[in-house]
This record gives sequence, structure tokens and C-alpha cells, in this order.
Amino acid sequence: MSEILSLQGVTAGYGDAVIIEDISLAVEQGASLAVLGRNGVGKTTLLRTLLGATRQFRGDIQWRGKSLASVDSVQRARLGMGWVPQQRGVFRSLTVEENLSVVARPGFWSHETVWKLFPRLKERKYHYGDQLSGGEQQMLAIGRALMTNPELLLLDEPLEGLAPLVAEEVEIAVGKMIGEGTVTAIVVEQHPIVALKMTSQAIVLERGRICHSAASDVLAADEALLDSMLGVA
Ligand SMILES: Nc1ncnc2c1ncn2[C@@H]1O[C@H](COP(=O)(O)OP(=O)(O)OP(=O)(O)O)[C@@H](O)[C@H]1O
Ligand SMILES: [Mg+2]
Repeated sequence: MSEILSLQGVTAGYGDAVIIEDISLAVEQGASLAVLGRNGVGKTTLLRTLLGATRQFRGDIQWRGKSLASVDSVQRARLGMGWVPQQRGVFRSLTVEENLSVVARPGFWSHETVWKLFPRLKERKYHYGDQLSGGEQQMLAIGRALMTNPELLLLDEPLEGLAPLVAEEVEIAVGKMIGEGTVTAIVVEQHPIVALKMTSQAIVLERGRICHSAASDVLAADEALLDSMLGVA
């Protein structure tokens, strides 16, 4: 397996404020990384740092062995970083089908493969973004990121705020696309059980630093540790 992304001692934040500190990690092609941690520890800031949307104070981020130091966020997207923001951000005045079409780039992911992953989106393909339920918007946000055929997909709390049944539908689909190795992904989640089931590796953040790093199945089996770090019984 080859390394897509690696971070060495990355410290970043906004303005003069340091939010994440001394982060080192690596993501191999076909692998998946869960980023866990309580509210406000810097999970979203870590993703935004990968995308080049924060102020980086120290350290280096490398994409396939090359430093991203002078690569801006537009160029990072072009290199193959896809992003499903915590706020979803679908185009409300476009139909589901159009939302997918406007971002499409050639590759495995097309309307057909996205419809297969989210049959519900196919049923709604002529509906406008603002006519969708929260769950459908999340499916569309993921579908849209997939249509860019990213080499690395960053998902920020894909299940947040969804009703239990639809959350399960999204969880199964995300698990499937990661499990089948069709995308390499970093998944930010507050629910460790869900995230650990989907991923191969995991890190836990505490006040902007990595306080634990493990294989996902090993961490999932350690209830006492999960409880002490994340407060899950
Ligand atoms: N644009 C910004 N400017 C300044 N500070 C920010 C900005 N965005 C976030 N922060 C601060 O950075 C810290 C970490 O926020 P971040 O959103 O990365 O946490 P998080 O782990 O994603 O939280 P949540 O679980 O609530 O999504 C918080 O203290 C927050 O107030
Ligand atoms: Mg967040």
C-alpha cells in the first residue's frame, strides 16, 4: 500500500489561536482513519487544516510524499481531496441529479454508482435540494463528494443530527463505500462505536492533541479506555 497523506508535527489554528498541536499521522491508500474526540477538541479544525483552510504554524503535510506547504485549497481539491462538511452545503436550487452533475469528474463514481449506494437519492433525483430531508441532504452531500472521484474523502460527522433510522441508512452506506475500498477516508465522529466499525485506524484528540492512536478494532474492544477518553459506557 502507498501512503496518500502524512502529517508531521502539524500545529494549526485561526489567527493567533493554536487549536491543534503537534499532530503526526499517516493514511495509506485504501485505509480509513477515524478521528474521535469530544466537542470542540479540534476535529473539524484538523480536517480544515488538511484542506488548507486554517493557519498552519508548524509541521508539514505531505500528499504522496510531496509537501503541501505552498499548495492552496483549490489545488488540494484538484489533487483529489474531497470534503463532506459538517453543514452539508448542498445546492438548494438545483435538483439532486444536477447537484451531482455539476461537480462530476471521471472515475469509478458516477450517477449510477451513487444511485446504487443511495437508492433513495435516485428516487428523489428530480427533487430540489431544499425539498430534501436532513438525511437525504446528507446522502446528497456524500454523493456529491464522491462524484469528484476523490483520492481521499474527508467526512465531518456524517451522522450528526439525523433521525436514528436514516442515520443507520447513511452509516451502512458509508461503511460499504469504505469497506469495499472504493475510497480512502478520514471520518470525524463523536460516536466512537459507529466510527470504529467503519474504519481501520483511529486517533483520539484531546485539547487539540492526539492522546491515543490504535487499530479501530483494538480500540473498539477496549471499553474502559473508550469510556475514560470519550465518556461512552
Ligand atoms: N473559524 C474559527 N475561528 C476561530 N476559532 C475557531 C474557528 N472555528 C473553530 N474555532 C475554535 O476551535 C476550537 C475547535 O473547534 P472545532 O470545530 O475544530 O472542534 P470539533 O472537535 O470539530 O467540535 P464539534 O465536535 O463541536 O464539531 C473551538 O474552541 C472553536 O471555538
Ligand atoms: Mg466539528
